Amino acid sequence: SVTTKIAPSMLSSDFANLASESHRMLTFGADWLHMDIMDGHFVPNLTLGAPIIESLRKHTKAYLDCHLMVTNPLDYVEPLGKAGASGFTFHIETSKDNWEELIQRIKAQGMRPGVALKPGTPVGEVYSLVEAENPVELVLVMTVEPGFGGQKFMPEMMDKVRTLRKKYPSLDIEVDGGLGPSTIDAAASAGANCIVAGSSVFGAPEPAQVISLLRNSVEK
Ligand code: DX5
Ligand code: ZN
Repeated sequence: SVTTKIAPSMLSSDFANLASESHRMLTFGADWLHMDIMDGHFVPNLTLGAPIIESLRKHTKAYLDCHLMVTNPLDYVEPLGKAGASGFTFHIETSKDNWEELIQRIKAQGMRPGVALKPGTPVGEVYSLVEAENPVELVLVMTVEPGFGGQKFMPEMMDKVRTLRKKYPSLDIEVDGGLGPSTIDAAASAGANCIVAGSSVFGAPEPAQVISLLRNSVEK
């Protein structure tokens, strides 16, 4: 059965203090650290890449859950593997023709492959990746348009989560965008077990309370 993973999105952290922000989230009960890698092309924002993952890796053993919002994810596989990334989740919209090669290369670098879908992308586009001989191990259902933290959760995306959970009882299903105390129950009851949360955690006076609330909702 699937286990709960609460993954604070470090996009909402103080990037000038990434190591201490990461330690703080782990102390508060985070399971994974969600790292949003954007190239200013697939999405209209630019964040961080392999050099920063490599720097952070020197300060923590935590699972670094990398979400690749980039046009050419294949170019990032080797640098991120060498930098110490743990999960590598690419967008299906960028990789319709080469996902088999991508998955194979991600695994060869010792990372765990995942696939993400933008809100406008039908869930059926990832079935073949989950059912492949060499499959992805996580599906990330975006619940906002990728690019920025602090946007509003799209509840209509829960149909995708329900469909995936029904088909794949032991798949890691991640949700990302607008998750917090007021939206977690919808995601949890639909079947999501990996929860990304940026502004709701970092913006809270007591982030540990938000992390435990998210966990309790998934586990109830
Ligand atoms: C958006 C990113 C998210 C973002 C979530 O493109 O993929 O990970 O940081 O932030 P919140 O939780 O504030 O919506
Ligand atoms: Zn993300």
